Amino acid sequence: MSEAVSRRSAMRLLAAAGTAGAALGAAACAPEVPPGAAAPRAPAAAPPAEAKGAARIDALLERLTLDEKTALLHGARDPAPLGQAGYVPGVPRLGIPALRLADGPAGVRVAEPATALPAPVLLASAFEPALAREYGRVLGREGRALGQDVLLGPMANLIRTPYAGRNFETFAEDPTLTADLVGELVRGIQDEGLIATVKHFALNNQEHGRDTVDVIAAEQTLHETELRGFEAAVAAGAGAVMGAYNKVNGVHACESKPLLDELLRGSWGFDGWVMSDRDATHSTVAAIGAGLDMEMPAGTHFGAPLREAVRGGSVPEAAVDLAVHRILTTLDRFGLLAARPAARPPRDAAAGARTARKVATAGAVLLRNEHGTLPLTGAAARSIAVIGPTGQVPFVGGGGSAQVVPDGATAPLTAIRRRAGNGASVHYALGEDVYGRPLPPNLLTPAAALDERTVAPGQVWSHEGEFRLTADDEWTLLVHYTGKRPAVRLDGQDLFPVRQGVAEYFAGGLLGSAPDGMSVRRRTLALKAGVHRLAVNAEGGQKGQRFRLRHTTGAIRAADLAEAVRTAKSARSVVLFAYEDATEGRDRTSLALPGGQDRLIEAVAAANPRTTVVLNTSSSTTMPWLPRTGAVLQMYYPGQEGGGATADLLFGDVDPGGRLTQTFPADERATPVGGDPLRYPGVSGRQEYSEGVHVGHRWYDAQRVAPLFPFGHGLSYTTWHYEKLTVRPGRAGLRVEFTVRNTGRRKGTEVAQVYVGPAPELELDQPVRALAGYRRLVLAPGEAQRVTVDLGVRALSSWDPEQHAWVLGSGRREVFVGRSSRELPLRAKAVVTSR
Ligand code: BGC
Repeated sequence: MSEAVSRRSAMRLLAAAGTAGAALGAAACAPEVPPGAAAPRAPAAAPPAEAKGAARIDALLERLTLDEKTALLHGARDPAPLGQAGYVPGVPRLGIPALRLADGPAGVRVAEPATALPAPVLLASAFEPALAREYGRVLGREGRALGQDVLLGPMANLIRTPYAGRNFETFAEDPTLTADLVGELVRGIQDEGLIATVKHFALNNQEHGRDTVDVIAAEQTLHETELRGFEAAVAAGAGAVMGAYNKVNGVHACESKPLLDELLRGSWGFDGWVMSDRDATHSTVAAIGAGLDMEMPAGTHFGAPLREAVRGGSVPEAAVDLAVHRILTTLDRFGLLAARPAARPPRDAAAGARTARKVATAGAVLLRNEHGTLPLTGAAARSIAVIGPTGQVPFVGGGGSAQVVPDGATAPLTAIRRRAGNGASVHYALGEDVYGRPLPPNLLTPAAALDERTVAPGQVWSHEGEFRLTADDEWTLLVHYTGKRPAVRLDGQDLFPVRQGVAEYFAGGLLGSAPDGMSVRRRTLALKAGVHRLAVNAEGGQKGQRFRLRHTTGAIRAADLAEAVRTAKSARSVVLFAYEDATEGRDRTSLALPGGQDRLIEAVAAANPRTTVVLNTSSSTTMPWLPRTGAVLQMYYPGQEGGGATADLLFGDVDPGGRLTQTFPADERATPVGGDPLRYPGVSGRQEYSEGVHVGHRWYDAQRVAPLFPFGHGLSYTTWHYEKLTVRPGRAGLRVEFTVRNTGRRKGTEVAQVYVGPAPELELDQPVRALAGYRRLVLAPGEAQRVTVDLGVRALSSWDPEQHAWVLGSGRREVFVGRSSRELPLRAKAVVTSR
C-alpha cells in the first residue's frame, strides 16, 4: 500500500474533522468544523476487496453505516473468546475482520500457554536493542499464532518512583535507553505481523490513584523524560497507542488534545489509532474531538452515546470517519483487510523458550560478589543449601495484565540439582511459607477437615464452630479456592472480603495463586489464646469448586527460619531466593522485602557468609543485610526459563550480562520522589513532576546523593579496564572512541556507557550527566576492543519550551565513559558546534 496516498486521504478527513496541531502546549492551528457538519464525500469506489490501499479504505467508509462505523470504535464481548483482553467485532459483509487484542508486555496473555518471557525490566538490563527486537519477534509470532491481531504492549512509561507497582513491566528510569529498546521491541512485534500498542500514553508512572491523579509536568520535562519512549515507538511505526488512565496537566490523557492531536499526530506524525486503557474513556464529545479513536473494553461512551452525538450534531460524522479511517488504514498496512489474509504461523515454543533463557541471563545483574562467592565452583558447587519459597516455586512473572500462562517452568532448585550433578549434595529449606499449612483439625470443634474440600455445582458447604488456640500468636490465615471466594469469618470478621475495583482483580504473580493454580488470599492477625469462632461458607456455583483453608503462625515462621539456618550451616554455599510480588493496580508501600525475609537473610548469612541472595523482585529493594552476604544476583521476574537461567549464572556457565536500569537507593527516604508527597504519591489528587528533567540517576547526581547501587551498575565474573578515550566532532554530533579490555581470565560481558555533561551555552536546566550511548561487548580473556559510540544531535540537545523544539547544546561539553553512572574512569571534552 502506498503510505503517501493513505496519508493524503487521512489528511482530508483530518481537515474535515478539525484536528491538527503542533507541539504540546502550542495552540492547534486548524479550524474547528462546526458541530453537525457533513462528512466529507469519499470518492466513488471500486468494490472493497478489489480496490487497493487508500482507495479501498475510502470505499469501505462510503459503504459503512453509522452503526457499523461506531461499532468499530469500541470493544465488545467476544463470541468465541480466547482469553484475551479485548475484542472488536468486524463487519463481515465488507470483509472487515474482527480484532482480538491481547496483553501483554512479557508474553501473550490468553487462556492458552504462551512463552512467559522475562519481565521487560530484565530485558532492558541487557542494554541490547537487538535483543529487544528478538524478544519482540517472539511476542509477535506467538500473538499471531494464538489468534491475536493486536498486542497491548510494550509499556514505555519511565520508572519514576521505585514504589510503582508496574516497574517490572517497563524498562528503565532512563529516557534514552527506554527509547532505544521500545523502538526495537515495536519493530520486533510488528516484523511478525502483530500490531503493537505502546502504552500508557502518558505519565502513568504509578498505580496509586492511577484513575484520577492529575499529573502536572512542564513541557521540557515531558519531552526530555517520559515522552521519549513513546516518540521512539511512533518513529518505529507502532500501529496503535493506548491512552493512560490518569490526567495530564488537568485533562484526562484519553481526551487530551495537546497529547493526542497536537503532539502524537501533529508533531510526531502518528498515523495509527489511539485506544483507551480499560475504562479510561471519560467522555464522548471531548474524547473523540481530542483524537481518541477507540474505547476499550466496551462502548460506554463510543457506542450509543457516540451515535446519538453524531445524530444530534455535537460530533461531526467526519470525526467518526477519521477514527475509522485510522483503524482501517492500520489494518490494511498489516494485511488484515486482504481478501486472503496471510495464514497464521504455528507457535514455536522451543524458539520462544530459547529467547526467554537468553534474555534472562543477558539481563541478570550481579549486584555484589565478595571473596569469589560466585560462580559456584569446586567445593562450593558440590555442597549447596537452597533456601526460600521461590527456590522451589519458580517466580515466573509479575501480576496483573502482564501475567501469562507459561508453557512450563522449572524450579530453580531442580535446575541447581541438575547442574550440580549426582555427586553433589543440594539441600532445600523453605525459609518462609507463603502458601500455608493445613489447619490442625484438633483446633476445631466440631472437627472439620478444611484442607482440600470439594463443593459440588449448585451446593453450599458450611461450617461453624470453635477455634481454640493455646497461645497468643501472629496468625496468617490463607484461603485457596477455584471458584467464588469462600466467605471465612473469624469472631464475626470477614477475613477475605471481596474488594471493590482493581484491588480485587489484581493479586500478584506469585502470592495470588498457589503452585497448582488455585487462587490465594491471605490475612495476618494477632490472635489471643482462647476460644474464637470460625465460620466458613463455600458455594459450588455453576461449575463446583475446590477450596482449602491454611495457616502459618509466628511459631511456624520461627521454626522455618531455624531450619533454614541449620541447612545453611551444614552446606558449603547457600543460595537464598528472596521475592517481592508486585502487580498492576497496587503500588508498593515499602522498598523492603515483604514478610520476614530481611530477618531470614540476616540469620542465614550470619550462619554462612558464602550466601548468595537471588532477588526475584520488581524494582529496587533496600538491603539492610547486604554487608553480611557473599553475593547478590538481581533476576527480577525471569520468566518461564528463569530457573535454568539462574543456574547458568550461579555456576558461571554464562557471565551475568545485565546492568541496572534504575538506581537502587541506599535509604528509602532519599529517592527522587522521597520526602515530597506532591511528587509522590500526590496531594488531593494532584501530583507534580517537580524533579523536572532530573529523573532517576540524574537526580542522584544533581543532589549528590549516594545510592546503594547506581544506574548502570553490574558486576561480571571477569575484570575490565577502560583506556584511550578520544572525543571529536562527528558528522552529526560527537564521535566517542575508547578501548575496553577484558583483564581477567574468563570470557565476559561488559556494558560500556557514555554520559554527557551539560552544554554551557544553553540556558536551560540540564542533567549533571545524561546517558548518551552505550555498547554491550563480549570479550575473550585478554581481548581488547576499540569501541566507537556516535552521539547524535538528539543526545546533545535539550527541549526549549519557548521555541517548542529541541535545541542543540553547543559549546564545550564533557564526555564520561565507564561501567556505571558512578564509575566513569575516562573523561574528555569536545566542542559541539551547530552547523
Ligand atoms: C492495563 C493495561 C492493559 C489493559 C487490558 C489495564 O488495566 O492498565 O495495561 O493492557 O488493562 O488488560
